[in-house]
Amino acid sequence: MLLSATQLHASESGRATYNEYCFICHGTGMPDIPQFGDVEHWASRTSKGMEALYNAAIYGVNAMPPMGLCDDCTEEQVKAAVDYMVGSSH
Ligand code: HEC
Repeated sequence: MLLSATQLHASESGRATYNEYCFICHGTGMPDIPQFGDVEHWASRTSKGMEALYNAAIYGVNAMPPMGLCDDCTEEQVKAAVDYMVGSSH
């Protein structure tokens, strides 16, 4: 087991948040939404830097709702969900 407990916890919580709140748009093949595991699409977005993606997820951008519609989520959880979504594409 190479992952530390902290890293494991972060990726677990990112996955849980993604599955519960982000999947409905980012995992169902909706047009114009970057999908989980879409390497090419995410590459064009991660090139802006992770900070820009975190901010877009937290504050919203165009049809992307602030906090991904997760009213109860902390910013840390939303960031972990971004990491999970983007990390999946490497
Ligand atoms: C109601 C549908 C919807 C939900 C729910 C949703 N998203 Fe999105 N998301 C979008 C759309 C639409 C875009 C594309 C916005 C654009 O670039 O015009 C987007 C784009 C993004 C981007 C890229 C932003 C950028 O600047 O390139 C990130 C990161 C993201 N979403 C994260 C999340 C996370 C994390 C969640 C769950 C906590 C989530 N989204 C939930 C619709 C959604």
